[in-house]
Amino acid sequence: MHNVFPIFFHLWFCFLSELNLCEAILHRPSIMISARYATYLTGESVFLECQITLDFTIHGYKFFKNNVEVRGGTEASTVNKYRIRTAKRSDSGSYTCLYWISDARGRQESDISLPVSLSIIDQPSTPSLSVKPQQTLYFEGETVTLECEHPVVNSQISYHFYKDSTKVHSYLDSTKSEYHISSLSTKDSGTYNCEYLVLGHQRTIPSGKSMQQTIAVTALSTSPLLKFLPSYITFINGENLTMECEAPTPVHVTIHRFYKDGEELKGPSSHRGIYMLQNVTKEDQAEYTCMYWSPKSDREIPSNQSPINELYIIDANRFSSRIVLYLAQSIFPSILTIFPLPVEEKQAQTMMLPPPCLTVGMVGSG
Ligand SMILES: *[C@@H]1O[C@H](CO)[C@@H](O)[C@H](O)[C@H]1NC(C)=O
Ligand SMILES: *[C@@H]1O[C@H](CO)[C@@H](O)[C@H](O)[C@H]1NC(C)=O
Repeated sequence: MHNVFPIFFHLWFCFLSELNLCEAILHRPSIMISARYATYLTGESVFLECQITLDFTIHGYKFFKNNVEVRGGTEASTVNKYRIRTAKRSDSGSYTCLYWISDARGRQESDISLPVSLSIIDQPSTPSLSVKPQQTLYFEGETVTLECEHPVVNSQISYHFYKDSTKVHSYLDSTKSEYHISSLSTKDSGTYNCEYLVLGHQRTIPSGKSMQQTIAVTALSTSPLLKFLPSYITFINGENLTMECEAPTPVHVTIHRFYKDGEELKGPSSHRGIYMLQNVTKEDQAEYTCMYWSPKSDREIPSNQSPINELYIIDANRFSSRIVLYLAQSIFPSILTIFPLPVEEKQAQTMMLPPPCLTVGMVGSG
């Protein structure tokens, strides 16, 4: 109340002197938006307040939008607030105010306040979450991209991605709205949605969350076994060999594939899990694996790779060393455990061999 006296003194002075100085003496008010921000969403209500630092009797206020008075009449004009009940985009603009007092000479108006700028923007539209590529079922190791799609917003944006309602990823970027999962695991199965926040208006305006998208990730099928038939570890130049890719039993297999040192081998029956090598050479010495695919929920799910089966090829001139082994087997049957061979194969081989004494002679001459 200590501020009252100087004002009254000024008014009294004006009245006495009858000089036209009162407009200059009535201090310029300031206009404030009730919140600390100047951007509102359509539908929100906005309060503008015409403020004077000094405390004395004011008879009325005027508010202007883009220099046009926005509140006519006198009824509510004694209140220093201007309220926009339901903001529309057209309410955006530059707002100013003034106050007036009545004295013996009539109405005395203050200077117009400095303007305040009000922006009304639409509530950001709800985004939609797209999953690329879209699959009913994903398998481990696949790549997926979630994109939070929405109309262009001329502001800085931050994105939030949620999995089962928990935030899993968020970042600040106005140009890219993607969340990339480069190698899916079964733990990534869940329902996802996203949201973006419009920034840069002294307030953060959330878009609301998108509809949910489900991602289901399945593990790869149990690995098959790759067998060599006959089941030798080493083969001799010129021999034939069949590889079999054996899936664990009750699986429906659509296709098998064989790999030699990581590169796919194509043979007439390879898709059925059989691959034949005829007349093997050193070139065939490699690490072999196989895989199979089986259908699940309209997709072909790959298996894990079979354990590696290593193929060794020995030269014909070392042929004798294996013969010696066969001979030795009859003397020391325990050696069989080192090179286990199917009985029928052993017999077949033995029958093809020259007589034992001649073989020994070959070893000596070789
Ligand atoms: C390998 O297979 C081919 C074709 O079936 C056959 O002609 C050849 O005799 C076989 N070789 C051996 C060493 O069994
Ligand atoms: C097996 O390979 C050897 C040596 O490369 C060749 O001389 C022979 O003709 C081949 N035999 C067959 C049946 O392909």
